[in-house]
Amino acid sequence: MNNPATEGFALSVGHAYKVFGRRPKEAVKRLRNGASRDEVRPFGTAAVIDASFDVNVGEIFVVMGLSGSGKSTLIRMLNGLGETTDGSITVFGHEIVGMSDAELREVRRERMSMVFQHFALFPHRSVLDNAAYGLEVQGVGLEERRTRARSWLERVGLKGWEDSLPGELSGGMQQRVGLARAFAADTEILLMDEAFSALDPLIRREMQELLVELQQELGKTIVFITHDLNEAMFLGDRIAVMRDGRIVQLGTPNDILTDPANDYVAQFVQDVDRARVLTAGDVMEPPRAVVAASAGPRAALRTMRDLQTAACFVTSSGRKLLGVVRDKDMLRLVREGSADIQDALKPTPSIVSPDQLIAELFELAVESHLPVAVVDEQDRLIGVVPRVTLLASLANLPATTTEIPIIEPTPDVPSAIITQTLEETGSASTETEGSLA
Ligand SMILES: Nc1ncnc2c1ncn2[C@@H]1O[C@H](COP(=O)(O)OP(=O)(O)O)[C@@H](O)[C@H]1O
Ligand SMILES: [Mg+2]
Repeated sequence: MNNPATEGFALSVGHAYKVFGRRPKEAVKRLRNGASRDEVRPFGTAAVIDASFDVNVGEIFVVMGLSGSGKSTLIRMLNGLGETTDGSITVFGHEIVGMSDAELREVRRERMSMVFQHFALFPHRSVLDNAAYGLEVQGVGLEERRTRARSWLERVGLKGWEDSLPGELSGGMQQRVGLARAFAADTEILLMDEAFSALDPLIRREMQELLVELQQELGKTIVFITHDLNEAMFLGDRIAVMRDGRIVQLGTPNDILTDPANDYVAQFVQDVDRARVLTAGDVMEPPRAVVAASAGPRAALRTMRDLQTAACFVTSSGRKLLGVVRDKDMLRLVREGSADIQDALKPTPSIVSPDQLIAELFELAVESHLPVAVVDEQDRLIGVVPRVTLLASLANLPATTTEIPIIEPTPDVPSAIITQTLEETGSASTETEGSLA
């Protein structure tokens, strides 16, 4: 059965329920009518209650919650390993609730690979044949699947281990085999249930980074389950937070960090390493010390005087960032009667893209007095990250920069001198030309 409304999504879950126990349908009926999880306990354990969400093609969708909140039950419903009591689950628009076991096996084989917490490797098969397993199930011939598995093992850093048995590998290496197996199968969707939870923190971080790298390269759709909000925040494009079977919040890491829906979510949020979650785009401020190159040195000088800063960004007519100018250079140009900012243009000290993690901005912020410039793919200046904003974002404090101007870098030329120079050199007509870009 095809559902056109959900075809654009890798996965689409509509009002899905899972109740374990003697009378699951009765439990669902009562839950629909407003009964609580505890009230339906006599009919069964409501592990997933009224879950609805869509997973976009190519995103990492994280399901996070405490142990027992229903995460594993939910992920097993997505590939039909666990039955859905009620509701709809579509995979690229195909309804899987109600499919036969044979059909579900085919969906799993062709469309979804799973990576488990405890690796689930075959102990008596070589690392190579473990990595090739998904391809074997798909009916790919021995030579081809070994070739493909071998290149994936190399990709995950296990070259040279092909003939070993899983037991000879550390936990982290075994999970690399699990990743290689999932990626080698080349399914569009990867389901990962606490895949890194059994690993030591350092190894775990390496694996998270590897996963993000592979995902960016291959554009797979990944549903990743974790009870660790740091991991959720690092990996997730979006995060669904589960509690007692229900999705209690669904949003981007930034939504969840800055606006937790309830105390349960807020508790998780307290321990988050914000520097590894927030990006330049999340914390940037509108650029204020900006002039268009065409506006000329007088306008630049006036802008810097008004904002009490020694430097400002210069943009082209299309808002492309051209560089920076300093107050003392502009003062000189104005005194010389020059109208061209370009004569004193300097390169912008630090430029980042909006998806740069703020952890990587600290060094830049220390090296330069100017706020870090954030530019889009067309090199347009879309924001700035002053140091104060960077620090405030770590503590989740508002950087009160809309009320209090950020004085950085401090002016080299006193404003009285700028005003005097502008008056002495200016005429009524040029005095109105300058405007903030
Ligand atoms: N096979 C099962 N039979 C009965 N209850 C189950 C079964 N599997 C899970 N549950 C119950 O469903 C709830 C959710 O479990 P689970 O999905 O494993 O949570 P999580 O993965 O978030 O730790 C728990 O209360 C658990 O005891
Ligand atoms: Mg679980």
